[in-house]
Amino acid sequence: MNPHYLIRDTSHLFSPGLLFYKDLIRSNIARAVELAGGAERLRPHVKTHKTREIVRLEMEAGIRKHKCATIAEAEMVASCGVPDVLIAYPLVGPNCERLARLIPAYPHCRFSVLADHPVGIRALAKALSAANQQVDVLLDIDVGQHRTGVAPGVEAIELYEMIHRSPGLRAGGLHAYDGHNRQENFVERQAAICTQLGPVFNLRTTLLQKGLPVPRFVVGGTPTFPIHARHDVPGLECSPGTMVLHDHGYGSRFPDVAGFVPAALLLTRVVSRPTPVRLTLDLGYKAVSADPPLGNRCLLLDVPDYQVVLQNEEHLVVETPIAQRYRPGDEIFAIPTHVCPTVALHRQAYVIENGQVVGTWEIAARDRVLSV
Ligand SMILES: Cc1ncc(COP(=O)(O)O)c(C=O)c1O
Repeated sequence: MNPHYLIRDTSHLFSPGLLFYKDLIRSNIARAVELAGGAERLRPHVKTHKTREIVRLEMEAGIRKHKCATIAEAEMVASCGVPDVLIAYPLVGPNCERLARLIPAYPHCRFSVLADHPVGIRALAKALSAANQQVDVLLDIDVGQHRTGVAPGVEAIELYEMIHRSPGLRAGGLHAYDGHNRQENFVERQAAICTQLGPVFNLRTTLLQKGLPVPRFVVGGTPTFPIHARHDVPGLECSPGTMVLHDHGYGSRFPDVAGFVPAALLLTRVVSRPTPVRLTLDLGYKAVSADPPLGNRCLLLDVPDYQVVLQNEEHLVVETPIAQRYRPGDEIFAIPTHVCPTVALHRQAYVIENGQVVGTWEIAARDRVLSV
């Protein structure tokens, strides 16, 4: 096990427990700033950690712009004194009025949001103008994931013009998330990005030629932002999220995204040894995300040749030839494969610094509603 992960006294830590290694988080943030080419080119996504204290570490690194997916995350980030928050999600239904209430509650913060359809644009304009508020709206561009967004083309131009002339809305730029670019080969990933971004750059030029403001172009996640960062486009902002805590999933698939270290681990204990080759741990899928398939939801450190045979809500059953070396109560550390949904399963994280537990941080925005 990486000596960074050792903790002097774990006897008082409840398991299953989430562990945040503060120094590693700091160094991951510094590495992201370096890869982005400066803190002003970074808009980290808060969904990975949902934690005020990590937002503050990002602010200490000079980061002033943040991205989030929910209104609760936006409120949590704004409550840290952040001046610029993008809700990278198309808001619908009563969430439009909710946004109109959030804006005056945090007057120091400039909020922005995504849209990709006339109905959404009209709903936002109605809610914002009724509340006498204004918000920046970024047009969400679909560069191939086909999750949200509109293809870069005539429809995109019309939507951007619609945003620009809508009451309560300011045309805030373009957004393109490319979560489908999962090519493990760096050269292939880079080539795909080049092909996909060409039409977006053309769209940006067309909008500017029409006299429309395009102040930002927010793009990418952890596997792609080092490639996006090489583009010299005014207003380009890279928006990785996972890299702050990093995880086994990205670490094993994208070794070229180098310099990030898993900074969030799970502490689990053996609760039973039902057969000579089996260990049962208190690490069910209510403690580690079930997002990847069974067998690959976390990496158990220092357990050789193990196979996952079963996972229930509170149990993880593995088989290993050395099971008999373990007793109930023995501790095992695990790196989650997908850290973002894993963190959201925990109300707090133990904070580790210099091998000691120095406190706990609340996963504040795991709640769907804070005050607004
Ligand atoms: C819109 C958006 N932006 C940025 C990110 C961050 O990506 P990553 O988790 O690869 O860092 C995500 C991840 O889900 C996302 O959905």
